Amino acid sequence: MSMDRIRLQRLRERIMSPEEAALLFKDGMTVGMSGFTRAGDCKAVPFALAERATREPLKITLMTGASLGNDIDKILTETNVIARRIPFQSDPTLRRKINAGEVAFIDQHLSETVEQLRSGQIAPVDIAVVEATAITENGGIVPTTSVGNSASFAVLAKKIIVEINVKMPEGLEGLHDIYIPTYRPHRLPIPLISPEQRIGLPYIPVDPEKIVAIVLTEKADSPSNVLPPDNETNAIAGHLNEFLYHEVKAGRLSPSLQPLQAGIGTIANAVLHGMLDSPFRDLKMYSEVLQDSTVELLDDGRLTFASASSITLSKSAYERVLGDIERYKRRLVLRPQEISNHPEVIRRLGLITINTALECDIYGNVNSTHVGGTHMMNGIGGSGDFARNAHLSVFVTKSIAKDGKISSVVPMVSHVDHTEHDTDIIVTEHGLADLRGLAPRERARQIIDNCTDPLYRDALRDYFLRATKRGGHTPHLLQEAFAWHLRYEQSGSMLDKQPEPAFA
Ligand code: COA
Repeated sequence: MSMDRIRLQRLRERIMSPEEAALLFKDGMTVGMSGFTRAGDCKAVPFALAERATREPLKITLMTGASLGNDIDKILTETNVIARRIPFQSDPTLRRKINAGEVAFIDQHLSETVEQLRSGQIAPVDIAVVEATAITENGGIVPTTSVGNSASFAVLAKKIIVEINVKMPEGLEGLHDIYIPTYRPHRLPIPLISPEQRIGLPYIPVDPEKIVAIVLTEKADSPSNVLPPDNETNAIAGHLNEFLYHEVKAGRLSPSLQPLQAGIGTIANAVLHGMLDSPFRDLKMYSEVLQDSTVELLDDGRLTFASASSITLSKSAYERVLGDIERYKRRLVLRPQEISNHPEVIRRLGLITINTALECDIYGNVNSTHVGGTHMMNGIGGSGDFARNAHLSVFVTKSIAKDGKISSVVPMVSHVDHTEHDTDIIVTEHGLADLRGLAPRERARQIIDNCTDPLYRDALRDYFLRATKRGGHTPHLLQEAFAWHLRYEQSGSMLDKQPEPAFA
Protein backbone atom coordinates (compact mmCIF):
# COMPACT_ATOMS: atom_id res chain seq x y z
CA MET A 1 0.00 0.00 0.00
CA SER A 2 2.67 2.52 1.04
CA MET A 3 4.85 1.25 -1.83
CA ASP A 4 2.05 2.11 -4.29
CA ARG A 5 2.51 5.72 -3.32
CA ILE A 6 6.09 5.66 -4.69
CA ARG A 7 5.22 5.19 -8.33
CA LEU A 8 8.79 5.66 -9.62
CA GLN A 9 9.85 2.18 -8.60
CA ARG A 10 13.61 2.70 -8.36
CA LEU A 11 13.05 5.24 -5.57
CA ARG A 12 11.53 2.57 -3.31
CA GLU A 13 15.01 1.43 -2.31
CA ARG A 14 15.61 4.87 -0.78
CA ILE A 15 13.13 4.29 2.03
CA MET A 16 14.88 4.62 5.37
CA SER A 17 14.15 5.37 9.00
CA PRO A 18 13.91 8.97 10.23
CA GLU A 19 17.06 8.38 12.29
CA GLU A 20 18.99 7.32 9.17
CA ALA A 21 17.65 10.34 7.28
CA ALA A 22 18.70 12.62 10.15
CA LEU A 23 22.32 11.56 9.62
CA LEU A 24 22.26 13.33 6.24
CA PHE A 25 22.27 16.73 7.96
CA LYS A 26 25.43 18.59 8.94
CA ASP A 27 25.92 21.27 11.55
CA GLY A 28 25.40 24.73 10.00
CA MET A 29 23.19 23.63 7.10
CA THR A 30 20.20 25.53 5.72
CA VAL A 31 17.13 23.32 5.69
CA GLY A 32 13.87 24.06 3.87
CA MET A 33 10.96 22.17 5.41
CA SER A 34 7.38 21.92 4.28
CA GLY A 35 4.66 23.27 6.58
CA PHE A 36 2.41 26.27 6.51
CA THR A 37 0.26 27.32 9.50
CA ARG A 38 0.38 23.83 11.03
CA ALA A 39 -0.56 22.11 7.76
CA GLY A 40 1.56 19.70 5.74
CA ASP A 41 4.61 19.81 8.00
CA CYS A 42 7.14 16.96 8.20
CA LYS A 43 6.31 14.66 11.08
CA ALA A 44 9.30 12.37 11.56
CA VAL A 45 12.63 13.83 10.40
CA PRO A 46 12.44 16.96 12.65
CA PHE A 47 12.06 14.73 15.73
CA ALA A 48 14.99 12.54 14.68
CA LEU A 49 17.05 15.71 14.17
CA ALA A 50 16.12 16.90 17.66
CA GLU A 51 17.10 13.53 19.08
CA ARG A 52 20.46 13.63 17.28
CA ALA A 53 21.07 17.13 18.65
CA THR A 54 20.89 15.79 22.21
CA ARG A 55 24.05 13.80 21.45
CA GLU A 56 26.09 16.18 19.28
CA PRO A 57 26.05 19.86 18.26
CA LEU A 58 23.63 20.38 15.40
CA LYS A 59 22.43 23.85 14.54
CA ILE A 60 20.57 24.78 11.37
CA THR A 61 18.89 27.66 9.61
CA LEU A 62 15.29 26.50 9.37
CA MET A 63 13.11 27.81 6.57
CA THR A 64 9.49 26.78 6.14
CA GLY A 65 6.38 28.10 4.49
CA ALA A 66 5.05 29.53 7.75
CA SER A 67 4.36 28.16 11.27
CA LEU A 68 4.61 24.44 12.07
CA GLY A 69 2.39 22.13 14.09
CA ASN A 70 3.12 19.02 16.14
CA ASP A 71 5.30 21.14 18.46
CA ILE A 72 8.14 20.91 15.93
CA ASP A 73 9.33 24.48 16.50
CA LYS A 74 9.13 23.90 20.26
CA ILE A 75 11.15 20.68 20.20
CA LEU A 76 13.76 21.98 17.76
CA THR A 77 14.11 25.08 19.96
CA GLU A 78 14.44 23.12 23.18
CA THR A 79 17.19 20.98 21.65
CA ASN A 80 18.95 24.13 20.32
CA VAL A 81 18.70 22.96 16.70
CA ILE A 82 17.28 26.26 15.43
CA ALA A 83 19.93 28.96 15.11
CA ARG A 84 18.05 31.00 12.53
CA ARG A 85 14.36 30.84 11.57
CA ILE A 86 12.72 32.17 8.37
CA PRO A 87 10.03 33.50 7.57
CA PHE A 88 7.23 33.01 10.21
CA GLN A 89 6.52 31.20 13.47
CA SER A 90 3.86 31.14 16.16
CA ASP A 91 5.32 28.91 18.87
CA PRO A 92 5.59 30.27 22.44
CA THR A 93 8.92 28.52 23.22
CA LEU A 94 10.56 29.70 20.01
CA ARG A 95 9.05 33.15 20.54
CA ARG A 96 10.72 33.38 23.96
CA LYS A 97 14.13 32.51 22.48
CA ILE A 98 13.64 35.00 19.65
CA ASN A 99 12.79 37.73 22.13
CA ALA A 100 15.77 36.77 24.30
CA GLY A 101 18.01 37.25 21.25
CA GLU A 102 19.01 33.56 21.24
CA VAL A 103 17.45 32.66 17.88
CA ALA A 104 17.82 34.97 14.87
CA PHE A 105 14.37 35.36 13.35
CA ILE A 106 13.95 36.87 9.90
CA ASP A 107 10.36 38.07 9.74
CA GLN A 108 9.56 38.23 6.02
CA HIS A 109 6.72 38.86 3.62
CA LEU A 110 5.70 35.29 2.82
CA SER A 111 5.86 35.86 -0.93
CA GLU A 112 9.50 36.89 -0.75
CA THR A 113 11.53 34.04 0.72
CA VAL A 114 11.88 31.94 -2.40
CA GLU A 115 12.48 35.01 -4.59
CA GLN A 116 15.51 35.74 -2.42
CA LEU A 117 16.62 32.10 -2.54
CA ARG A 118 16.20 31.91 -6.29
CA SER A 119 18.32 35.00 -6.85
CA GLY A 120 21.02 33.92 -4.37
CA GLN A 121 20.33 36.79 -1.98
CA ILE A 122 20.10 34.45 1.02
CA ALA A 123 21.98 31.23 1.80
CA PRO A 124 20.92 28.33 -0.45
CA VAL A 125 18.92 25.37 0.82
CA ASP A 126 21.14 22.36 1.44
CA ILE A 127 18.36 19.90 2.14
CA ALA A 128 14.62 20.16 1.50
CA VAL A 129 12.33 17.98 3.63
CA VAL A 130 8.86 17.75 2.15
CA GLU A 131 5.75 15.93 3.32
CA ALA A 132 4.07 14.18 0.39
CA THR A 133 0.99 12.19 -0.47
CA ALA A 134 2.80 10.33 -3.24
CA ILE A 135 5.70 10.36 -5.67
CA THR A 136 4.61 10.18 -9.31
CA GLU A 137 5.96 7.95 -12.10
CA ASN A 138 8.41 10.69 -13.10
CA GLY A 139 9.57 11.44 -9.56
CA GLY A 140 7.25 14.43 -9.01
CA ILE A 141 6.31 15.16 -5.39
CA VAL A 142 2.59 15.44 -4.59
CA PRO A 143 2.26 17.64 -1.47
CA THR A 144 -0.33 17.13 1.27
CA THR A 145 -2.35 19.85 3.05
CA SER A 146 -0.06 22.74 2.20
CA VAL A 147 2.29 23.81 -0.56
CA GLY A 148 3.94 26.79 1.12
CA ASN A 149 7.54 27.10 -0.06
CA SER A 150 7.98 23.36 -0.63
CA ALA A 151 8.08 23.54 -4.42
CA SER A 152 10.95 25.99 -4.65
CA PHE A 153 12.77 24.43 -1.68
CA ALA A 154 12.72 21.09 -3.51
CA VAL A 155 13.63 22.57 -6.89
CA LEU A 156 16.50 24.65 -5.47
CA ALA A 157 17.89 22.26 -2.80
CA LYS A 158 20.90 20.08 -3.37
CA LYS A 159 19.17 17.08 -1.75
CA ILE A 160 15.56 16.20 -0.97
CA ILE A 161 14.09 14.03 1.76
CA VAL A 162 10.45 13.08 1.16
CA GLU A 163 8.19 12.10 4.03
CA ILE A 164 5.30 10.10 2.59
CA ASN A 165 2.38 10.38 4.99
CA VAL A 166 0.36 7.22 4.42
CA LYS A 167 -2.60 8.57 6.41
CA MET A 168 -3.14 11.47 4.02
CA PRO A 169 -5.87 10.50 1.52
CA GLU A 170 -4.53 9.65 -1.92
CA GLY A 171 -7.33 11.82 -3.26
CA LEU A 172 -5.24 14.88 -2.30
CA GLU A 173 -3.52 14.33 -5.64
CA GLY A 174 -4.99 16.87 -8.04
CA LEU A 175 -5.61 19.48 -5.35
CA HIS A 176 -2.36 21.34 -5.98
CA ASP A 177 -1.37 23.70 -8.76
CA ILE A 178 2.41 24.09 -8.84
CA TYR A 179 3.54 27.06 -10.88
CA ILE A 180 7.00 28.50 -10.44
CA PRO A 181 7.62 31.93 -11.97
CA THR A 182 10.27 32.21 -14.65
CA TYR A 183 13.56 33.83 -13.68
CA ARG A 184 14.25 37.55 -13.57
CA PRO A 185 15.07 39.77 -15.39
CA HIS A 186 13.07 38.24 -18.24
CA ARG A 187 10.14 36.99 -16.20
CA LEU A 188 6.85 36.50 -18.00
CA PRO A 189 3.56 37.65 -16.47
CA ILE A 190 1.96 35.04 -14.19
CA PRO A 191 -0.97 33.87 -16.34
CA LEU A 192 -3.52 33.71 -13.52
CA ILE A 193 -6.64 35.76 -14.07
CA SER A 194 -9.19 34.10 -11.75
CA PRO A 195 -8.98 32.22 -8.40
CA GLU A 196 -10.16 28.90 -9.83
CA GLN A 197 -7.76 28.81 -12.74
CA ARG A 198 -4.98 26.21 -12.85
CA ILE A 199 -1.72 27.25 -14.47
CA GLY A 200 0.79 24.63 -13.32
CA LEU A 201 1.32 20.95 -12.52
CA PRO A 202 -0.42 18.79 -9.88
CA TYR A 203 3.01 17.86 -8.43
CA ILE A 204 6.42 19.44 -7.72
CA PRO A 205 8.68 18.61 -10.66
CA VAL A 206 12.15 17.59 -9.42
CA ASP A 207 15.12 15.60 -10.62
CA PRO A 208 14.41 12.22 -8.94
CA GLU A 209 18.13 11.68 -8.37
CA LYS A 210 18.03 14.49 -5.79
CA ILE A 211 15.61 12.44 -3.65
CA VAL A 212 18.13 10.86 -1.28
CA ALA A 213 15.73 9.51 1.32
CA ILE A 214 12.09 8.58 1.70
CA VAL A 215 10.59 8.26 5.18
CA LEU A 216 7.13 6.86 5.86
CA THR A 217 4.91 8.63 8.42
CA GLU A 218 1.30 8.57 9.55
CA LYS A 219 0.72 11.45 12.00
CA ALA A 220 -2.08 13.95 11.36
CA ASP A 221 -1.61 17.72 11.13
CA SER A 222 -2.10 19.58 14.40
CA PRO A 223 -5.61 21.02 14.59
CA SER A 224 -5.93 24.77 14.35
CA ASN A 225 -6.11 26.61 17.65
CA VAL A 226 -8.50 29.42 16.74
CA LEU A 227 -11.23 30.23 19.23
CA PRO A 228 -14.94 30.36 18.29
CA PRO A 229 -16.55 33.73 17.48
CA ASP A 230 -17.54 35.88 20.49
CA ASN A 231 -19.59 39.07 20.96
CA GLU A 232 -16.77 41.35 19.85
CA THR A 233 -15.79 39.39 16.75
CA ASN A 234 -19.46 39.05 15.80
CA ALA A 235 -19.80 42.83 16.09
CA ILE A 236 -16.70 43.33 13.93
CA ALA A 237 -18.18 40.98 11.31
CA GLY A 238 -21.50 42.86 11.47
CA HIS A 239 -19.85 46.26 10.85
CA LEU A 240 -17.85 44.90 7.93
CA ASN A 241 -20.87 43.22 6.34
CA GLU A 242 -22.88 46.41 6.64
CA PHE A 243 -20.08 48.42 5.03
CA LEU A 244 -19.72 45.94 2.15
CA TYR A 245 -23.49 45.97 1.67
CA HIS A 246 -23.37 49.76 1.24
CA GLU A 247 -20.54 49.38 -1.25
CA VAL A 248 -22.75 47.02 -3.27
CA LYS A 249 -25.70 49.42 -3.07
CA ALA A 250 -23.47 52.26 -4.23
CA GLY A 251 -22.43 50.16 -7.24
CA ARG A 252 -18.78 49.98 -6.22
CA LEU A 253 -18.92 46.21 -5.64
CA SER A 254 -21.11 43.46 -7.09
CA PRO A 255 -23.15 41.17 -4.77
CA SER A 256 -20.40 38.56 -5.13
CA LEU A 257 -17.90 41.21 -3.97
CA GLN A 258 -14.30 40.69 -5.12
CA PRO A 259 -12.16 37.65 -4.20
CA LEU A 260 -11.63 37.57 -0.44
CA GLN A 261 -8.48 37.06 1.59
CA ALA A 262 -8.67 36.55 5.34
CA GLY A 263 -5.67 36.43 7.65
CA ILE A 264 -4.76 33.89 10.29
CA GLY A 265 -6.09 33.79 13.81
CA THR A 266 -9.27 33.91 15.78
CA ILE A 267 -10.48 37.34 14.69
CA ALA A 268 -10.07 36.93 10.92
CA ASN A 269 -11.68 33.47 11.08
CA ALA A 270 -14.64 34.86 13.03
CA VAL A 271 -15.07 37.75 10.60
CA LEU A 272 -15.25 35.38 7.66
CA HIS A 273 -17.66 33.20 9.64
CA GLY A 274 -19.85 36.32 9.86
CA MET A 275 -20.29 36.18 6.06
CA LEU A 276 -22.72 33.32 6.72
CA ASP A 277 -25.17 36.01 7.88
CA SER A 278 -24.54 38.27 4.92
CA PRO A 279 -26.56 38.85 1.75
CA PHE A 280 -23.52 38.10 -0.44
CA ARG A 281 -23.53 35.16 -2.85
CA ASP A 282 -21.15 33.36 -5.24
CA LEU A 283 -18.14 34.43 -3.25
CA LYS A 284 -14.59 33.38 -4.11
CA MET A 285 -11.49 33.35 -1.95
CA TYR A 286 -7.92 34.00 -3.01
CA SER A 287 -6.11 33.67 0.28
CA GLU A 288 -3.11 31.97 1.85
CA VAL A 289 -4.75 29.91 4.60
CA LEU A 290 -8.16 28.29 4.56
CA GLN A 291 -9.61 28.08 8.06
CA ASP A 292 -12.84 26.55 9.39
CA SER A 293 -14.86 29.53 8.20
CA THR A 294 -13.93 28.71 4.58
CA VAL A 295 -15.35 25.21 4.94
CA GLU A 296 -18.53 26.57 6.55
CA LEU A 297 -18.98 28.98 3.64
CA LEU A 298 -18.27 26.24 1.07
CA ASP A 299 -20.79 23.92 2.76
CA ASP A 300 -23.34 26.72 2.86
CA GLY A 301 -22.88 27.19 -0.89
CA ARG A 302 -22.18 30.91 -0.46
CA LEU A 303 -18.53 30.39 -1.36
CA THR A 304 -18.09 28.79 -4.75
CA PHE A 305 -14.30 28.46 -4.89
CA ALA A 306 -11.26 28.91 -2.65
CA SER A 307 -7.59 29.19 -3.60
CA ALA A 308 -4.87 29.17 -0.93
CA SER A 309 -1.54 27.72 0.08
CA SER A 310 -2.70 25.62 3.04
CA ILE A 311 -5.71 24.14 4.79
CA THR A 312 -5.59 24.62 8.58
CA LEU A 313 -8.69 23.31 10.31
CA SER A 314 -10.10 22.21 13.66
CA LYS A 315 -10.14 18.44 14.19
CA SER A 316 -13.77 18.00 13.11
CA ALA A 317 -13.50 20.17 9.98
CA TYR A 318 -10.18 18.48 9.07
CA GLU A 319 -11.78 15.03 9.25
CA ARG A 320 -14.79 16.25 7.25
CA VAL A 321 -12.68 17.72 4.45
CA LEU A 322 -10.06 14.95 4.21
CA GLY A 323 -12.82 12.32 4.47
CA ASP A 324 -14.61 13.82 1.47
CA ILE A 325 -11.66 15.27 -0.40
CA GLU A 326 -12.91 14.26 -3.86
CA ARG A 327 -15.95 16.51 -3.41
CA TYR A 328 -14.09 19.45 -1.81
CA LYS A 329 -11.28 19.20 -4.37
CA ARG A 330 -13.58 20.45 -7.10
CA ARG A 331 -13.83 23.78 -5.30
CA LEU A 332 -10.33 24.11 -3.81
CA VAL A 333 -6.81 24.61 -5.07
CA LEU A 334 -3.50 24.90 -3.15
CA ARG A 335 -0.67 26.92 -4.68
CA PRO A 336 2.90 27.83 -3.75
CA GLN A 337 2.79 30.74 -1.31
CA GLU A 338 4.65 33.01 -3.70
CA ILE A 339 1.67 32.64 -6.06
CA SER A 340 -1.11 32.79 -3.43
CA ASN A 341 0.60 35.93 -2.08
CA HIS A 342 2.01 37.35 -5.28
CA PRO A 343 1.64 41.15 -5.52
CA GLU A 344 1.07 40.93 -9.28
CA VAL A 345 -1.82 38.46 -8.89
CA ILE A 346 -3.33 40.17 -5.83
CA ARG A 347 -3.46 43.50 -7.66
CA ARG A 348 -4.82 41.90 -10.83
CA LEU A 349 -7.62 40.00 -9.06
CA GLY A 350 -8.58 43.04 -6.96
CA LEU A 351 -8.82 41.37 -3.56
CA ILE A 352 -10.71 42.45 -0.48
CA THR A 353 -8.14 41.65 2.20
CA ILE A 354 -8.98 41.23 5.88
CA ASN A 355 -6.01 41.10 8.26
CA THR A 356 -5.60 41.54 11.98
CA ALA A 357 -3.80 44.31 13.82
CA LEU A 358 -2.35 44.06 17.31
CA GLU A 359 -2.68 47.82 17.44
CA CYS A 360 -3.30 50.71 15.08
CA ASP A 361 -2.78 54.41 15.57
CA ILE A 362 -5.02 57.39 15.04
CA TYR A 363 -3.74 57.82 11.47
CA GLY A 364 -4.13 54.17 10.39
CA ASN A 365 -0.59 52.80 10.76
CA VAL A 366 -0.78 49.17 11.87
CA ASN A 367 1.39 47.02 14.11
CA SER A 368 0.69 43.31 13.55
CA THR A 369 3.81 41.83 15.03
CA HIS A 370 5.52 43.54 17.97
CA VAL A 371 3.94 43.62 21.44
CA GLY A 372 4.91 46.89 23.12
CA GLY A 373 7.03 47.74 20.08
CA THR A 374 9.77 45.26 20.94
CA HIS A 375 8.54 41.71 21.48
CA MET A 376 7.79 39.54 18.47
CA MET A 377 4.41 37.82 18.45
CA ASN A 378 4.27 35.72 15.24
CA GLY A 379 5.47 37.68 12.24
CA ILE A 380 4.05 39.75 9.41
CA GLY A 381 3.12 36.60 7.47
CA GLY A 382 1.25 37.41 4.31
CA SER A 383 -0.51 40.46 5.67
CA GLY A 384 1.92 42.86 3.96
CA ASP A 385 1.72 41.04 0.63
CA PHE A 386 -2.05 41.38 0.70
CA ALA A 387 -2.60 44.79 2.33
CA ARG A 388 -0.22 46.70 0.06
CA ASN A 389 -1.73 45.29 -3.12
CA ALA A 390 -5.41 44.98 -2.20
CA HIS A 391 -8.42 46.49 -3.94
CA LEU A 392 -9.71 47.17 -0.43
CA SER A 393 -7.41 46.65 2.54
CA VAL A 394 -9.27 46.03 5.79
CA PHE A 395 -7.67 45.68 9.23
CA VAL A 396 -9.67 44.27 12.11
CA THR A 397 -8.90 44.24 15.83
CA LYS A 398 -10.69 44.21 19.15
CA SER A 399 -10.54 47.76 20.52
CA ILE A 400 -8.94 46.63 23.78
CA ALA A 401 -6.76 43.74 24.94
CA LYS A 402 -5.91 42.21 28.33
CA ASP A 403 -9.24 43.14 29.97
CA GLY A 404 -9.00 46.76 28.91
CA LYS A 405 -5.47 47.35 30.20
CA ILE A 406 -4.34 47.83 26.61
CA SER A 407 -6.01 50.02 24.00
CA SER A 408 -5.57 48.65 20.50
CA VAL A 409 -5.93 52.19 19.18
CA VAL A 410 -2.99 54.29 20.34
CA PRO A 411 -1.59 57.75 19.55
CA MET A 412 1.34 56.26 17.61
CA VAL A 413 1.98 52.56 16.92
CA SER A 414 5.06 51.26 18.69
CA HIS A 415 6.13 49.31 15.58
CA VAL A 416 4.95 49.68 11.97
CA ASP A 417 4.15 46.73 9.72
CA HIS A 418 1.56 48.43 7.50
CA THR A 419 1.73 52.13 6.92
CA GLU A 420 -1.30 54.39 6.73
CA HIS A 421 -0.95 54.09 2.93
CA ASP A 422 -1.86 50.39 3.11
CA THR A 423 -4.93 50.77 5.30
CA ASP A 424 -8.31 51.57 3.74
CA ILE A 425 -10.64 50.39 6.48
CA ILE A 426 -10.24 49.76 10.22
CA VAL A 427 -12.92 47.82 12.10
CA THR A 428 -13.33 47.14 15.81
CA GLU A 429 -16.39 45.95 17.73
CA HIS A 430 -17.38 49.62 18.17
CA GLY A 431 -17.51 50.51 14.49
CA LEU A 432 -15.74 51.05 11.21
CA ALA A 433 -13.46 53.82 9.96
CA ASP A 434 -13.50 54.28 6.20
CA LEU A 435 -10.20 56.03 5.53
CA ARG A 436 -10.35 56.11 1.74
CA GLY A 437 -9.64 59.53 0.31
CA LEU A 438 -9.13 61.12 3.71
CA ALA A 439 -6.26 63.33 4.87
CA PRO A 440 -4.49 62.46 8.15
CA ARG A 441 -6.59 64.78 10.38
CA GLU A 442 -9.81 63.42 8.85
CA ARG A 443 -8.56 59.87 9.32
CA ALA A 444 -7.84 60.52 12.99
CA ARG A 445 -11.38 61.79 13.64
CA GLN A 446 -12.89 58.70 11.93
CA ILE A 447 -10.72 56.27 13.85
CA ILE A 448 -11.14 57.92 17.24
CA ASP A 449 -14.91 58.41 16.90
CA ASN A 450 -15.74 55.02 15.38
CA CYS A 451 -13.19 52.47 16.55
CA THR A 452 -11.91 53.26 20.04
CA ASP A 453 -13.21 51.87 23.30
CA PRO A 454 -15.03 54.42 25.51
CA LEU A 455 -12.38 53.78 28.18
CA TYR A 456 -9.78 55.47 25.96
CA ARG A 457 -11.82 57.67 23.61
CA ASP A 458 -11.58 60.96 25.52
CA ALA A 459 -7.86 60.54 26.10
CA LEU A 460 -7.30 60.01 22.36
CA ARG A 461 -9.47 63.04 21.51
CA ASP A 462 -7.49 65.11 23.98
CA TYR A 463 -4.16 63.92 22.52
CA PHE A 464 -5.30 64.67 18.98
CA LEU A 465 -6.67 68.10 19.87
CA ARG A 466 -3.49 69.19 21.62
CA ALA A 467 -1.40 67.76 18.77
CA THR A 468 -3.37 69.72 16.15
CA LYS A 469 -2.68 72.94 18.10
CA ARG A 470 0.99 72.28 17.58
CA GLY A 471 0.29 71.88 13.84
CA GLY A 472 1.60 69.67 11.10
CA HIS A 473 0.17 67.51 8.33
CA THR A 474 0.14 64.50 10.69
CA PRO A 475 0.02 66.14 14.12
CA HIS A 476 1.75 64.43 17.02
CA LEU A 477 3.10 65.27 20.45
CA LEU A 478 6.36 63.39 20.17
CA GLN A 479 7.12 63.55 23.89
CA GLU A 480 3.78 61.81 24.58
CA ALA A 481 3.38 59.56 21.56
CA PHE A 482 4.51 56.42 23.39
CA ALA A 483 3.35 57.48 26.87
CA TRP A 484 0.57 54.88 26.81
CA HIS A 485 2.98 52.05 26.06
CA LEU A 486 5.36 53.26 28.77
CA ARG A 487 2.52 53.47 31.27
CA TYR A 488 1.56 49.87 30.48
CA GLU A 489 5.16 48.75 30.91
CA GLN A 490 5.46 50.56 34.26
CA SER A 491 2.00 50.12 35.79
CA GLY A 492 0.42 47.21 33.89
CA SER A 493 -2.26 49.41 32.29
CA MET A 494 -2.43 52.07 29.59
CA LEU A 495 -5.22 53.80 31.51
CA ASP A 496 -4.18 57.09 33.05
CA LYS A 497 -6.66 56.67 35.88
CA GLN A 498 -8.19 53.31 36.82
CA PRO A 499 -11.96 53.34 36.12
CA GLU A 500 -14.29 53.88 39.11
CA PRO A 501 -15.63 50.54 40.36
CA ALA A 502 -19.20 50.07 39.13
CA PHE A 503 -21.95 49.94 41.80
CA ALA A 504 -23.84 46.68 41.87
N1 COA B 1 -0.87 44.48 22.74
C1 COA B 1 -0.50 43.32 23.34
N2 COA B 1 -1.13 42.14 23.15
C2 COA B 1 -2.21 42.14 22.35
C3 COA B 1 -2.67 43.31 21.72
C4 COA B 1 -1.95 44.51 21.94
N3 COA B 1 -2.33 45.66 21.37
N4 COA B 1 -3.77 42.99 21.01
C5 COA B 1 -3.99 41.69 21.17
N5 COA B 1 -3.05 41.17 21.98
C6 COA B 1 -2.91 39.78 22.41
C7 COA B 1 -4.22 39.16 22.86
O1 COA B 1 -4.51 39.52 24.21
C8 COA B 1 -3.94 37.68 22.68
O2 COA B 1 -3.12 37.27 23.76
P1 COA B 1 -3.23 35.80 24.38
O3 COA B 1 -2.77 34.88 23.29
O4 COA B 1 -2.30 35.86 25.55
O5 COA B 1 -4.68 35.66 24.74
C9 COA B 1 -3.06 37.65 21.42
O6 COA B 1 -2.53 38.98 21.27
C10 COA B 1 -3.81 37.26 20.16
O7 COA B 1 -4.87 38.14 19.98
P2 COA B 1 -6.33 37.71 19.55
O8 COA B 1 -7.21 38.82 19.94
O9 COA B 1 -6.66 36.35 20.08
O10 COA B 1 -6.23 37.73 17.97
P3 COA B 1 -5.80 36.68 16.85
O11 COA B 1 -5.74 35.27 17.28
O12 COA B 1 -6.73 36.98 15.73
O13 COA B 1 -4.30 37.11 16.48
C11 COA B 1 -2.54 38.52 15.62
C12 COA B 1 -3.98 38.42 16.19
C13 COA B 1 -2.28 39.95 15.19
C14 COA B 1 -1.53 38.07 16.68
C15 COA B 1 -2.44 37.52 14.40
O14 COA B 1 -3.48 37.79 13.51
C16 COA B 1 -1.12 37.67 13.68
O15 COA B 1 -0.10 37.11 14.08
N6 COA B 1 -1.11 38.46 12.57
C17 COA B 1 0.10 38.75 11.81
C18 COA B 1 0.26 37.84 10.62
C19 COA B 1 -0.87 37.96 9.67
O16 COA B 1 -1.67 38.87 9.68
N7 COA B 1 -0.97 37.00 8.78
C20 COA B 1 -2.12 36.93 7.91
C21 COA B 1 -1.82 36.90 6.51
S1 COA B 1 -2.81 35.67 5.77
